[in-house]
Amino acid sequence: MTVQVQKRSDPQGVRRLLEALPSWFGIPDAIDGYVAAGDTMPSYLAVQDDRTLGVALVKRHYAESAELYLMAVDPLLRRSGIGRQLVHAVVDDLRGDGVRFLQVKTVGESFPDEGYAETRAFYLALGFTPLEEFALVSWDGPTLQLVMALAPLGPERVT
Ligand SMILES: CC(C)(COP(=O)(O)OP(=O)(O)OC[C@H]1O[C@@H](n2cnc3c(N)ncnc32)[C@H](O)[C@@H]1OP(=O)(O)O)[C@@H](O)C(=O)NCCC(=O)NCCS
Repeated sequence: MTVQVQKRSDPQGVRRLLEALPSWFGIPDAIDGYVAAGDTMPSYLAVQDDRTLGVALVKRHYAESAELYLMAVDPLLRRSGIGRQLVHAVVDDLRGDGVRFLQVKTVGESFPDEGYAETRAFYLALGFTPLEEFALVSWDGPTLQLVMALAPLGPERVT
């Protein structure tokens, strides 16, 4: 399967993806928010034959740090390497732009859920490190913050 990563938005394609993942994106207002965010944040699409199979949105908090704001892959094509391809494209661009840290937030393990356990397994496999679980970040349950260092700490930063 040849899947290309393209840096552009596709509101309809992203809406279709998110609506196909109701266990993760079951709130219509939240879907509207993510679709709208595709017009303002850097948007990476995994595309095959003009069909959007996956999406990653990146939020830039500071010049040296960014957040993987949205990740979703067509449920029929999970575990085909599309998520990895998207994250690698994001990381390559951020590194090139001098970004040193990439964070992502997801549901923490103190809320038992098979689907989110798979999501955490994905982030860990890609090289993210869990930092801390917080309460009441964007929902009533626990939110896990994970981080990936995109650049080594230089000797000039060691005191
Ligand atoms: C999480 C998600 C983006 C991963 O995308 P994907 O294309 O399925 O993942 P990949 O095929 O690139 O997987 C890369 C690696 O992550 C790990 N991984 C991915 N899915 C996994 C799963 N279900 N269980 C265990 N490990 C998993 C594996 O190590 C995998 O490598 P391998 O298949 O060679 O062993 C996708 O499954 C998805 O859209 N999930 C639902 C929505 C979601 O969780 N979004 C994030 C909300 S915070």
